[in-house]
Amino acid sequence: MKVIIKENYEELSKEAAEIIKEAIQKKPNLVLGLATGSTPLGCYQELIRLYQKEGLDFSKVIIFNLDEYLGLSADHPQSYNYFMQENLLNHINVKQENFHIPLGIIKNIEKFCQEYEEEIKKAGGIDLQLLGIGSDGHIGFNEPGTPLNSRTHLAKLAESTIKDNSRFFEREEDVPRFAITMGVQTIFEAKKIVLLASGENKADAVAKALEGPITPQITASILQKHPDTIVILDQAAASKLKGKY
Ligand code: PGA
Repeated sequence: MKVIIKENYEELSKEAAEIIKEAIQKKPNLVLGLATGSTPLGCYQELIRLYQKEGLDFSKVIIFNLDEYLGLSADHPQSYNYFMQENLLNHINVKQENFHIPLGIIKNIEKFCQEYEEEIKKAGGIDLQLLGIGSDGHIGFNEPGTPLNSRTHLAKLAESTIKDNSRFFEREEDVPRFAITMGVQTIFEAKKIVLLASGENKADAVAKALEGPITPQITASILQKHPDTIVILDQAAASKLKGKY
């Protein structure tokens, strides 16, 4: 793992966007794995700027998002589909048919999860996966205890995640309790991974993920074994690391 510590969130976001920009320039039909949440927002704003001001071309880019809340339709304002449209897709020239995200309303969950895996495979696998990290060390919705060999599946949100994500909802009771998420193994198979973490409330999870044992209790810890992972932190998120980076 390569660890980059930036002064602040703005610098971290620019660094992440630069890595994505270079990957798209190298491979215009990049298969890009994306994430939702507060952390990647600055990176998405920078990608929009790169599209608008520098003509960064997303027309051939294929996107696979990590996860979606079960029970929320694509047009629900708290759905991750809606989040992606609002915060990135509506502002760049990505083709809607090249955007993939799990559905929130599905009849046959198992079949759907298998199909999502197949779509990723058909696209040639994920070239670059952007990740955030939960305060409990999760990647995607792979909560503590999720097998490290898991593939796309139905996940139950941990209590800490429900609390963390309640800021996006009117009431904590409104946070969906389940989600469809790429599994740990699905994520691990991405050729390159960029994990972002910002703020003091991520410092514990970051220290455990980077310097603790590789364990299903901290699913991000699997990235220690990944051949090409870059972790970009701000000073606060890096504050509990013991090693020198
Ligand atoms: P956040 O979420 O970016 O909103 O902190 C990260 C995550 O839960 O993976």
